[in-house]
Amino acid sequence: MSQLIEDRLDRSVQQCALMASSLQNLPDRLPRSIDATGALVTSDSKWWCSGFFSGSLWYLYEYQPSQTVLADARHYTMRVEQEKYNKGTHDLGFMLYCSFGNGYRLTGDTAYRNVMLIGAESLSNRFNPQVGCIQSWNASPKWQFPVIIDNMMNLEFLFWASKVSGNPKYREICISHADKTIENHFRPDYSSYHVVSYDPVSGQVEKKNTAQGYNDESAWGRGQAWGLYGFTVMYRETQDAKYLEQAKNIARFIIGHPNLPADKIPYWDFNAPEIPNTKRDASAGAIIASALIELSGYVDKSLAKTYLSVAETQIRTLSSPEYFAATGDNGNFILKHSIGTFLRNSEVDVPLTYADYYYIEALLRYKSL
Ligand code: GLY
Repeated sequence: MSQLIEDRLDRSVQQCALMASSLQNLPDRLPRSIDATGALVTSDSKWWCSGFFSGSLWYLYEYQPSQTVLADARHYTMRVEQEKYNKGTHDLGFMLYCSFGNGYRLTGDTAYRNVMLIGAESLSNRFNPQVGCIQSWNASPKWQFPVIIDNMMNLEFLFWASKVSGNPKYREICISHADKTIENHFRPDYSSYHVVSYDPVSGQVEKKNTAQGYNDESAWGRGQAWGLYGFTVMYRETQDAKYLEQAKNIARFIIGHPNLPADKIPYWDFNAPEIPNTKRDASAGAIIASALIELSGYVDKSLAKTYLSVAETQIRTLSSPEYFAATGDNGNFILKHSIGTFLRNSEVDVPLTYADYYYIEALLRYKSL
């Protein structure tokens, strides 16, 4: 494994350097995916994925410090800075913690810390004490106060903000949000709903639906991955055993699911009726691998072995030519075959920045075992 990991990290350094050069003359743009012709699709900083590319560069700088990677990481991080004032999304954790958070961790640059403290305050504005949750998306005719399982991923940023600012408010928001999520997002088998919408006045649940899964009662692949990762972080940050139990139960659902293929890369939805004749989601595989490696450090030896064996299979699969792009191919993204929203035919079977980010994270986590 160690040779495989070194090789794929080296190749990721090359691929990300090519991506960085290709964007150099597109001011303010960030990589998003490729279109049907294979051409690069970019986004502005408002897109929820704007922080993943610089996050990947920071991880690669951590792996192999060089002035070139550092300059690229700094440059693409700054392209996201203005989002610190964005109060219209719950995704500031993805946007600012993956980019500025890794930058601050590795350089101690206080300018990065200041950006994040403003961003954390912006994010905390979306917390409604009556509901006990951060509002994920803005209200719509369908949902008054939608909370999506993905939102668990933005809590790590708020834990950081409490530690650095000394203000317990951010941490309290995380705990309240996670507790409500345990209460309302999960089914008895520990699969999760994608969207739970609340009445913002009474705080009661109004609907349980999906936006990206097969149907309201299905287990959307990436949603299960976000939940696993999110509750693993909750345990790390609080040491509260109930979050560890939640993470272990989610892991059991994923690992034990009859529709999880032998190579451990999930289909886009565990209940997609066309299985096995439907698409995989590499991003879900990468997120699960990274989460399982961390979770393996919190459980007994036998469970840790099971988690690491699944993560190893996922890393091997994602590192194979089927998923890992040749240098210069795939629009200069690292991994192929991810899914944005299958049923809307949006970003189906394409590279996505978060698949790359969590894949690199998984490689680094496995390497440091
Ligand atoms: N947070 C959006 C997604 O996972 O697609």
